[in-house]
Amino acid sequence: MVRDEIKVFCGNSIPVLAESICKELSVPLGKATIDRFSDGEIRVKIEENVRGVDVFIIQSTHAPAENLMELLLMLDAAKRASAARITAVIPYYGYARQDKKDEPRVPISAKLIADLLTQAGANRVLSLDLHAEQIQGFFDIPVDHLYATPVFAEFFGKRDLSDYMVVSPDAGGARRARGYAKRMGGLPMAIVDKRREKKDQPEALNLVGDVQGKICLLLDDLISTGTTLIKATGLLLERGAREVRVAATHGVFAAEAIARLSASPIEEIVITDSLPVRDRLKDDKFQVLSVAKLLAEAICRIHNGESVSSLFI
Ligand code: R5P
Repeated sequence: MVRDEIKVFCGNSIPVLAESICKELSVPLGKATIDRFSDGEIRVKIEENVRGVDVFIIQSTHAPAENLMELLLMLDAAKRASAARITAVIPYYGYARQDKKDEPRVPISAKLIADLLTQAGANRVLSLDLHAEQIQGFFDIPVDHLYATPVFAEFFGKRDLSDYMVVSPDAGGARRARGYAKRMGGLPMAIVDKRREKKDQPEALNLVGDVQGKICLLLDDLISTGTTLIKATGLLLERGAREVRVAATHGVFAAEAIARLSASPIEEIVITDSLPVRDRLKDDKFQVLSVAKLLAEAICRIHNGESVSSLFI
């Protein structure tokens, strides 16, 4: 089937980012109606012909679940309208934190969402900083998994980094932090030994690495309650770090997180626009970098059948 033509659509979760991506691609955002039936159910209609077209649907799947539902319905609509190929562009892949059955009677939500997306009509997925890399394997369709590190590297790379050190707030993020430290010209790195006995109550127990006198750049995939970063910051300062700064891809920001982080000793918090939080961030401590260019480049390469690997770490 021919798919020379590209069309990009979005749901209601991140329309500003979707517009920016379209601007980078020099294509208009496709027309779609997403509203509600009078009982509150979501109603979707793609308002343009997509038969034989290479379709990209941009939507982050953070709470509420309506964001996920909108994406599923849009995928189904595009599939039934005979799109040649449908790529779900999911800058923030929600429901990813339950990614293994590590206690009795829990779901593996990350796998369930993968199945739902595939069943709804996604032929491939483009995502950013998945909570765990193995989520790629939950899909039986191709997944292009990008990292926001090039965006952070460009931002921090303009500084004198001689006293900087990259710190992972937990063992799970060590690979990401190592890649970033390498990209920044071989910065030293440290790892916080984090334990989470109860949901949303992580403890920073120990530190692997010497942070004495260093500017620590804590690198994480997401900020929810902010507890992980606040606890890690306390430990780093206690161990002699000069200051702590943060680069985190997804600003999920659960209730009170922004206020707690504002009041914390963290000097600077840099996130991306994978979630629509810009309007909630009044404190100058927060900076939002756009991933539009990165995602647009990936979309362009996917459409043209080119490699996206140079966009990785
Ligand atoms: C944990 O594995 C993640 O990488 C984040 O560190 C964590 O989900 C952040 O959550 P919170 O901000 O609630 O501590």
